[in-house]
Amino acid sequence: MQTKRRPIVAGNWKMNTTLGEGRDLAAALCRPLDALGGVEAVLCPPFISLAAIRETLAGASVSLGAQNCHYEPKGAFTGEVSPVMLADLGCRYVILGHSERRAHLGETDALVNRKVRAALAHGLTPIVCVGEDLAQQDAGQTEGVVASQVQAALEHLSGDDVAGMVIAYEPLWAIGTGRPASAEQAGATIGVIRRIVAGVAGEGPAGAVRLQYGGSVTPDNAPELFGQPEIDGALVGGASLKVTDFIAICTAAHMGAG
Ligand code: 13P
Repeated sequence: MQTKRRPIVAGNWKMNTTLGEGRDLAAALCRPLDALGGVEAVLCPPFISLAAIRETLAGASVSLGAQNCHYEPKGAFTGEVSPVMLADLGCRYVILGHSERRAHLGETDALVNRKVRAALAHGLTPIVCVGEDLAQQDAGQTEGVVASQVQAALEHLSGDDVAGMVIAYEPLWAIGTGRPASAEQAGATIGVIRRIVAGVAGEGPAGAVRLQYGGSVTPDNAPELFGQPEIDGALVGGASLKVTDFIAICTAAHMGAG
C-alpha cells in the first residue's frame, strides 16, 4: 500500500443551483482551484448545467462530474441520463449510490454495481458512496454495512478498474447535519474500507483506489480529516456551494498532499 495517491475533492451540488447560479459558482471557483496543482478538484452540478459548466471550466484543470447515471447506454428510459451522454459532455466522474438515492429512490447494491460497470465501460470514473445510518452505527454494525456495500459495488470489476475508482465513505448521520465524523473515526473506517478492497481486488488496487470522506466537511474540519493517512480527499455537499469554503477545503487537501 505504498502508492502515492493524488487527493481528490468533489463538490456534490445536489439539487441546487439554477443554470445562472451554477455558471457563476463555477466561474468563481475555476481559477483558484486550477492553481492547486496537487489536488484534483471536481464539480458535480445538476445534469442541466453540465454543458454550460464544461464551457466555464474550459482550459482549467478542474474536472466535471455528474451525480448519477443509468446503466444502459441508450433506450426507452424516460427521464434518465446515460453514461455515454455524460462522457460525451466531458464528464470525467459520476457519483453513484449516494445515500440520498439509496434512501429516497430505492437504489440497491445490485443496481449500484450495474451502474458502476456501465460507467467504467464508457470511460467514466465512478465515485461510489457507502456508509451506515445512525441505528447501524449505534448497533456497532458500521464495518459490516460498509463491507457489504463495497463488496457489492466492486463485483465483476477488474483490478485496474478498482485501482482507478473513488469510494466515498459518507456516514448518513453526518450528511447535512453539521455533525461530522471525527477525523479518527473517519480515518479508521476508511482504513477498514481499504482492507475490504484489498480482500476483493488485491493489495495493488487497494493501495491505488482513492478513498474520500463525506459528511459535514467544512474548512474547519478539513485539515484534520486530510491529516489522516488513509483519507485521500472529500465529497462535499453544502460547503461546495460556498466559494470561499470550497476553495479552503481544496486548499487544505493541497497542503495535506505536500
Ligand atoms: P454535506 O457536506 O452537506 O454534509 O453533504 C455531504 C454529501 O452528501 C456529499 O455527497
